Amino acid sequence: METLLALEMVRVTEAAALASARLMGRGDRHGADRAATEAMRQTMDEVEMRGTIVIGEGERDQAPMLWIGEPVGMRAEGHPEIDIAVDPLEGTNLVAHGQANAITVLAASEKGGLLNAPDTYLEKLCVGPIAAGHVDIRVSPRENVERIASALGRRVADITIVILERPRHEALIEEVRRSGARIKLISDGDLSAAISCAVSGTGVHGVMGIGGAPEGVITAAALRCLGGEIQARFRFRSDDERARAERMGTSSDEERVYSTSDLAPGESIVFAATGVTEGDLLNGVRFFGGGARTHSLVMGYQTKQVRFVDTVHMFDRERPPSVRL
Ligand code: FBP
Repeated sequence: METLLALEMVRVTEAAALASARLMGRGDRHGADRAATEAMRQTMDEVEMRGTIVIGEGERDQAPMLWIGEPVGMRAEGHPEIDIAVDPLEGTNLVAHGQANAITVLAASEKGGLLNAPDTYLEKLCVGPIAAGHVDIRVSPRENVERIASALGRRVADITIVILERPRHEALIEEVRRSGARIKLISDGDLSAAISCAVSGTGVHGVMGIGGAPEGVITAAALRCLGGEIQARFRFRSDDERARAERMGTSSDEERVYSTSDLAPGESIVFAATGVTEGDLLNGVRFFGGGARTHSLVMGYQTKQVRFVDTVHMFDRERPPSVRL
């Protein structure tokens, strides 16, 4: 399933990136999200699969498309049954303000291969393959920073931890500052940051803090493919969220630590993402006369392949643009 789906899934994230990148800097986060969602939805129906959205834009009554449970794909007899988690645009504000690191992203697996997480918060600790197995979300952030540094064979002062800049992270930021590590505070996009910490050369060595649970599941799918690790604990904002988690079959025990494989247990996983704005990991969409160029990442767990895909999209057959190296 991975071989068949990988390049098809990149077409889906590329289409969403091309659509939402048009709205960069326009101050319209909802418009950018809508454009990505519509393009993703439409392209998904051209894929030979019987897909089901397990993580998407919300419950059926809240979201016009890519809602949880929505059937997608060509859905002919014999097509594989696939569960899909999407974030049509991670970083809606980033696109609205023309800032770095917005991506379009999805993960696909065999049925049951992605946790049906409720749209609540998750406390996350993410590291790349070298520090995987050395960290523990139950010990202090300072201790984890030291463990990451030691696994990477660096001084603490030479590692960088990404944290979402939110009031809820004041104490965490203070503690990581005291540890001596460098911090990159981001306004949005902990999923893209988590993938970066598993790719050397990005200058990111760990991600800590509380962010969206759906993004956490997609992060886990990516980190399974890259050999990285996420540890996570649910953080509910209300009894309502707790009850929703239980209805969806997720434990409401906030002490339970979810591992990478708890969040994305699939045996077959495909992950695809395309840059919308320029980023640490992926270039943003570059438009030129008659076309555009996109930069994507697509990976498979079974295939053990990580592809960076550089695509030139020609919009006008009559007057094709000249393709540059
Ligand atoms: P978008 O909904 O604009 O894509 O925001 C993404 C994000 O920044 C995630 O990367 C992160 O996990 C989550 O939102 C954080 O949520 P909050 O903004 O409520 O702190």
